[in-house]
Amino acid sequence: MFTDSPTQEIFFAGHKMFVKRDDLLHPDFSGNKARKFFHFLKSNNNNHVKCVVGSGSAQANSLYSLSVLAKLKGWDLDYYVSHISDALTQQLLSVSPVNSNYVQAVKNGANVKAVNWSDKRFNQCQHLDDAVEQLKSDYYLHYGKQEVLFIPEGGRCEYAKTGVAILASEIINWAIEYDIDKLTVFLPSGTGTTALYLQQSINEKCDQHLDIKVMTCSTVGGDDYLVSQFRRLSSTISCFPEIVTDGNKYHFGKLYLNLFELWQEVLATTGITFDLLYDPIGLAVLKHQLQTRALLGREVLYIHQGGLLGNVTMLPRYLRKQKNKKLRKL
Ligand SMILES: Cc1ncc(COP(=O)(O)O)c(C=O)c1O
Repeated sequence: MFTDSPTQEIFFAGHKMFVKRDDLLHPDFSGNKARKFFHFLKSNNNNHVKCVVGSGSAQANSLYSLSVLAKLKGWDLDYYVSHISDALTQQLLSVSPVNSNYVQAVKNGANVKAVNWSDKRFNQCQHLDDAVEQLKSDYYLHYGKQEVLFIPEGGRCEYAKTGVAILASEIINWAIEYDIDKLTVFLPSGTGTTALYLQQSINEKCDQHLDIKVMTCSTVGGDDYLVSQFRRLSSTISCFPEIVTDGNKYHFGKLYLNLFELWQEVLATTGITFDLLYDPIGLAVLKHQLQTRALLGREVLYIHQGGLLGNVTMLPRYLRKQKNKKLRKL
């Protein structure tokens, strides 16, 4: 369980390529959460933990996966967000609540807490992670140092290495089995944790006969932000994945008609449902790379990183906008 996802051949943008179906790893820990949280899922070294503290968006896939992890392990989960919108609060109060990441996480017992930014302790804080840093001493007092586990936003931490290294081995073994010696592995990045640890682990495991490169695109904050995220995780520039774009600037979570149409086209032609936050940007950028022949002579493996629970709220938003033709076309 949580490893050995299948690989599927598809045609995309006039090219044969492959999709690593990490979305099929596990219904609750699909995609990169199964990889990032593998360390905790499989290890018994965390018996002393009583509480896990996370942070991020109230609609994040990682909130839901963390809530399942905490429930499985019998841990408390405190999850800090910048803000909880009225729409989300309504979701909880509704007679038939939508099955969103937020609603499911709260049902699993997650304490989702909005940071009180007017509290003077957070005066100097720019990010959620900084605010959580300020709260650490309270947690240590309450639980004891060994009993609290802090997981940074999006699972951007060393722990993610364990599961991503297994993903790297699966890809290398697959490439050897299918006699592929030049491979580009493409995946869209948020924090860049998965892409960075994947390239690092591939570099460590591959001999010189295998040329496997990780290529990614930024979905949050642009290319400079992504490089700064890589730097927070590693100082070895040779393991930084290549960052590419299609020439457009996308804003995370914003709806773009051309991206939705591409997502719909891929669903119709391959039968694969991708997520609606990261994958439409990933697929658009990959399409551009294929069309500009930048990947000529290389096989391409796209990693489906799951996140489909987020579609429960994204799909109706897109369908509503598409119907009203209010979408901003790039
Ligand atoms: C579906 C999906 N794709 C891509 C990403 C980006 O992963 P990372 O933050 O490791 O770059 C995430 C976030 O964890 C995700 O949920």
